[in-house]
Amino acid sequence: PTLACLWLLSGMTMRHRSGYFGVLAPICCLLVFLLLTLVASYKPVVIVHGLFDSPSDFQQLLGFINETHPGTNVTVVDLFDRGESLKPLWQQVEGFRHAIYPIMQNAADGVHLVCYSQGGLICRGILSTMPDHNVDTFISLSSPQMGQYGLDYLRWLFPKHMKSNLYRLCYTQLGQDFSICNYWNDPHHRDLYLNNSNFLALLNDERINPNATDWKKNLLRIRKLVLIGGPDDGVITPWQSSMFAFYDVNETVRDMTSQLVYLQDTFCLKTLYARGDIRFYTMPGVPHTLWHSNRTVYDTCIAKWLT
Ligand SMILES: *[C@@H]1O[C@H](CO)[C@@H](O)[C@H](O)[C@H]1NC(C)=O
Ligand SMILES: *[C@@H]1O[C@H](CO)[C@@H](O)[C@H](O)[C@H]1NC(C)=O
Ligand SMILES: *[C@@H]1O[C@H](CO)[C@@H](O)[C@H](O)[C@H]1NC(C)=O
Ligand SMILES: *[C@@H]1O[C@H](CO)[C@@H](O)[C@H](O)[C@H]1NC(C)=O
Ligand SMILES: *[C@@H]1O[C@H](CO)[C@@H](O)[C@H](O)[C@H]1NC(C)=O
Ligand SMILES: *[C@@H]1O[C@H](CO)[C@@H](O)[C@H](O)[C@H]1NC(C)=O
Repeated sequence: PTLACLWLLSGMTMRHRSGYFGVLAPICCLLVFLLLTLVASYKPVVIVHGLFDSPSDFQQLLGFINETHPGTNVTVVDLFDRGESLKPLWQQVEGFRHAIYPIMQNAADGVHLVCYSQGGLICRGILSTMPDHNVDTFISLSSPQMGQYGLDYLRWLFPKHMKSNLYRLCYTQLGQDFSICNYWNDPHHRDLYLNNSNFLALLNDERINPNATDWKKNLLRIRKLVLIGGPDDGVITPWQSSMFAFYDVNETVRDMTSQLVYLQDTFCLKTLYARGDIRFYTMPGVPHTLWHSNRTVYDTCIAKWLT
C-alpha cells in the first residue's frame, strides 16, 4: 500500500498539480494507508468459556469482533466443554495453557484474553503460572474473581438450603476435584477455606504458596485488566465478586479496596490498581448468560480494548 500511494502521489502531483485531484489524492492515500495499518495490527483474541459452556455459545461475540475489528484472528478454545468444565481448575489451566501457547508464539505484539465466568479464574491461573505469556489486555467478563457463595443458578443440581452446607463437601480433597469447589468461598468457614481451597486460596496467595513471587511477576506482565460485571447477573454471588469485592463474615459486601488480599497486596492486585491499569465496568440489566451476546456491553466495555 505504501508503494502504491507513493506512485499515485508522484503521478498526481506531476500531472494535476493545480487540480483538486492533486489535493485529494494524498489525503485518500493517507486514509487508505491508516485503515490498512489498523486492520493489520489488531492483536489476536483468545476466548476462554465458562461453566457448562462451549465455543458455540460465542457466535454473537465473534460476529461483533468481525464487524468492529475486521481481520482479527479470534480463537474460542474448544476444551473442557459443558460437563467437562466441572473438572478441577488446575487441570483446566494446564489444558488451556497448552492450547493458547502457540497462539501467543505466533503473536509478536501479544494477544488479548476474553474470559467469561469461570473462565476468568482459569485465565488468572494461566497468567500467574506462565512466565513468558504476552497477554496485553485481560478482559474478565462477569467472573467470580473473589469466589462464589451462592447456588441459585444450580437449583436443578442442588436441593434448597444447600449453600450453607456445601463447605462440608467443597473443603475436602474430594470436593476440590470439582471446579465449583475450587472457588467456593464460604465467608462463615474461612479457616476451612484457607486450609483446603487448593485453587482460589493459592491464586490469591491467601495460603502459603512457594511460587507466589513468580506468580506475582507473571501476572504483572499484563498491560490492562478489564473487569465487567453487574447487579442483575443472577449467577455470580455476590455479583461484586466480578469486581474483586466479596462478603465479609456477616455477608455484607466489602469492596475491593477493603479486601485483605488487596490491602496486603498478596497477588499484586493493589499494584495493578496503583499502576492505573484496572478498568471497572458495572453494567445493569444483563443476566449472566447474556454477557457475551449483549451489543451494548460489547460496544461499551470490550471493543475499545481489542486493538
Ligand atoms: C466477517 O464479516 C464479513 C462481512 O460482513 C463476512 O463476509 C465474513 O464472512 C465474516 N467473517 C467471519 C469469520 O464471520
Ligand atoms: C490464527 O491464529 C492461529 C494460531 O496462531 C493460526 O494457526 C492461524 O493460522 C491464524 N489464522 C489466520 C487466518 O491467520
Ligand atoms: C488446618 O490445617 C492444620 C494443619 O493441617 C490443622 O492443624 C488445623 O486444625 C486445620 N484447621 C481447620 C479449621 O481445619
Ligand atoms: C511451584 O513450582 C514448581 C516448579 O515450577 C512446581 O513443581 C510446583 O508444583 C509449584 N507449586 C505450586 C503450589 O503450584
Ligand atoms: C458482624 O456482625 C456482628 C454482630 O452484629 C458484629 O459484632 C461484627 O463486628 C460484624 N463483623 C464485621 C466484620 O462487620
Ligand atoms: C444489554 O446491556 C444493557 C446495558 O447494560 C442493558 O441495559 C440491557 O438490558 C442488556 N440487554 C440484555 C438483553 O441483556
